Amino acid sequence: MPRPRVLSGIQPTADSFHVGNYLGALRQWVALQDTHDTVYCVVDLHAITVPQKPAELRRRTRVAAAQLFAAGLDPDRSIVFVQSQVPEHTELEWVLACLTGFGEASRMTQFKDKSAKSGADTASVGLFTYPILQAADILIYDADQVPVGEDQRQHLELTRDLAQRFNHRFGPTFVVPGPYILPEVAKITDLQDPTIKMSKSSSSPQGIIDVLEEPGSIRRKIMRAVTDTDGEVRADEEAKPGVTNLLRIYSALSGETVGSLERRYAGSGYGVLKKDLAEVVVDAFALIRERTEKLLANEGELDRMLADGAARARELAGATMARVRDRVGFLPAN
Ligand code: AMP
Ligand code: TRP
Repeated sequence: MPRPRVLSGIQPTADSFHVGNYLGALRQWVALQDTHDTVYCVVDLHAITVPQKPAELRRRTRVAAAQLFAAGLDPDRSIVFVQSQVPEHTELEWVLACLTGFGEASRMTQFKDKSAKSGADTASVGLFTYPILQAADILIYDADQVPVGEDQRQHLELTRDLAQRFNHRFGPTFVVPGPYILPEVAKITDLQDPTIKMSKSSSSPQGIIDVLEEPGSIRRKIMRAVTDTDGEVRADEEAKPGVTNLLRIYSALSGETVGSLERRYAGSGYGVLKKDLAEVVVDAFALIRERTEKLLANEGELDRMLADGAARARELAGATMARVRDRVGFLPAN
């Protein structure tokens, strides 16, 4: 039995991933290598749906890829590549765009949220078609499952709909992927406003812990994290979102259950909890940071690893595109 294939992507839109990305995505990607056939991409095409500076995009793409390898993605076990280096993604995206209803695309809530931010009239058409490119990313590799956070559920539904529509209209061509929604436990909130998700777009720097952050800065941010005044170390999402978030991060990084942490810190106050948590976070990220720096110091080697990933991805993507071209009625590409 071949292993089921998973495909996922992450945008290179920051100078570091944060603890939410790490616990909510990266760490699971690494674990899936043991049980699945794994394909992961840095989605730089998606990153330009909002304005980006060229030098910054180039740097962030390498930093993102380096962190993926540093966190444990193994080029011998996974295909790790940069989306724009596999031009078949945009080729398939066009075909899928022609099968997508305008109204259907207009209902995507992430587009509505993101375009509302910039003003609906200035949002790009690329931002509008973002989910269709995402569908192409997934379908071009015959992915069985797509590990993503809850916020991506609607894009995955669209992907399934498009796969089924294509198969129905042109004959069986695509695998219809199932969702693989990542566990709730991994939902990490902002340190300064624990009622909102930790996010590179909406959190203040004080509300985010980066994977590549200096230990001193990690410690300061955790010590200043917003909690509450009742002084009780106890998880309660509604009444105590700040403390709950700290316990969650602690538990996810240490492997100790939240219940056990609650018992261990009962009566010791938030200061002690924060101090210990800071060391847990610093330790967890030290090695990733060191490995990332090493990879970035040898750009030629990093680029070679990515070129190799892209070549392997193109082999799979090219085979799917040949099938698609034939089904749609295009002449062979070569
Ligand atoms: P983003 O590019 O910010 O959407 O993040 C990429 C991935 O990281 C998402 O698909 C989520 O799985 C994960 N992620 C981002 N922020 C968080 C968070 N605050 N808590 C848990 N997971 C997150
Ligand atoms: N839209 C995803 C996010 O913001 C990123 C993404 C692009 C993706 N292509 C993908 C995720 C394909 C899974 C599969 O998180």
